[in-house]
Amino acid sequence: MALPAKSLASAAANGLRLVSVRNSSSQPKVALLGASGGIGQPLGLLLKQDPLVAHLALYDVVNTPGVAADLSHIDSKAKVTAHTGAAELHAAVKDADVIVIPAGVPRKPGMTRDDLFNTNAGIVRDLVETIAKAAPKALIAIITNPVNSTVPIAAEVLKKNGVYDKRRLFGVTTLDVVRSQAFVAELKGHDATKTVVPVVGGHAGITIIPLLSQTKPSTKFSDEEIAKLTPRIQDAGTEVVNAKAGAGSATLSMALAGARFANALVRGIKGDKNVQCAYVESDAVKGVQYFSTPVELGPNGVEKILGVTSYEQKLIDASVAELNKNIEKGVAFVKGK
Ligand SMILES: NC(=O)c1ccc[n+]([C@@H]2O[C@H](COP(=O)([O-])OP(=O)(O)OC[C@H]3O[C@@H](n4cnc5c(N)ncnc54)[C@H](O)[C@@H]3O)[C@@H](O)[C@H]2O)c1
Repeated sequence: MALPAKSLASAAANGLRLVSVRNSSSQPKVALLGASGGIGQPLGLLLKQDPLVAHLALYDVVNTPGVAADLSHIDSKAKVTAHTGAAELHAAVKDADVIVIPAGVPRKPGMTRDDLFNTNAGIVRDLVETIAKAAPKALIAIITNPVNSTVPIAAEVLKKNGVYDKRRLFGVTTLDVVRSQAFVAELKGHDATKTVVPVVGGHAGITIIPLLSQTKPSTKFSDEEIAKLTPRIQDAGTEVVNAKAGAGSATLSMALAGARFANALVRGIKGDKNVQCAYVESDAVKGVQYFSTPVELGPNGVEKILGVTSYEQKLIDASVAELNKNIEKGVAFVKGK
C-alpha cells in the first residue's frame, strides 16, 4: 500500500526501513509480453497513448528494441522500456501492476484455437513461472490462445509457486464483446459506441455465448436473427483468419480489445470500479471452474463476480462439457499427467 509523504517522512525519522515506496495506483506499470507481434505492436501503441499508464515495459524474444524506440518517440506520458529474451523477462515484469500476455503463435486457416495448445501452453507456463517470482501481486491478463486452457495453466503455475490469487488472473474475452457490439449495432442500425452486449462462457467456438437477450439498449431479435448472429459471433475469429489467408489472426481489433481491458484493470487498481466480461475462476455456473461473466474490477482485481441470469441457458449448458475438457487439458499440462 502506498504511504502519504508525511507518513514516509515520519517512518524514516523513526528509523523504519521502507521496502517499497512506489505508489502503484498513481504510477501504474504495465508489462506487455509478446510486444513485437501482430497484436503486441498495435496494443503497445494503444497502451502508450493511455494516460493512466506511467511505465510500459515491452518484452519479446525478438525485435523489442526497435518497437520500443519507435513508441518512445510518441509524446505521451508513459515511459517505455525494452526487454529482450528470457534473461530480461524478470526486469520486464518486476513491480508491474498489470501484465498483458499476447505471446505465442496465432491460427492459420483450418486450425482451431486448441491446435495452438502444444506451442502456446509451454510459452505461457514459462512466462508465468517468472511472473510468480518477480511480480506475484500483478494482475495478469492472458490473450494467448487457447485462452480456455492457458488461464488454467497460469493458475496451476501460480499455485505451484504459492502465490495464486484467483482475483488477479484473467483470460481476455473482450474481443468477443467488441465483436458482438459491432455486429448488433450494424444489424439494428444502433450507435456501436452505445451498444452493450455481455458475452459469457469461454473463448472458443460454442463456449462463446453472447447474451443477446441482455443487449442494451433493450433490443428485440427474431429467432432467425439470433440463429444467424450467434454463430457469426462464435466464428468471428475464423472469419478474420480466413480473410487473412495465412497471414495470422485478428490483431487490430484484438489490440483495441486488449487495451480496453488493460485500461479497465488499471482503472480498477486506482479505485475506479468498473464491470467487464472476463474468463476467471468462478462459481457462477455449476460444474465448471473457470467461466467468463461480467465481473466488477477494483483495487484487487476481481472484486465481485456478477452471475449469469439468462435466457441462453441451453447454450451455457452446452458449453460446460467443452470448457471442462479445455480446463482439464491445461491443468494436466502443468501437473505432468
Ligand atoms: N484472446 C483473444 O481474443 C485473441 C484474439 C486474437 C489472437 N489471440 C492470440 O494471441 C496470440 C498472439 O497472436 P499474434 O497475432 O500477435 O501472433 P504473432 O505471431 O504475430 O506474435 C506473437 C509474438 O509473440 C512472441 N513470442 C513467441 N514466443 C515468445 C515467448 N516465449 N516470450 C515472449 N514472446 C514470445 C513472438 O516473437 C511474436 O512477436 C496467439 O496465440 C493468438 O491466437 C487471442
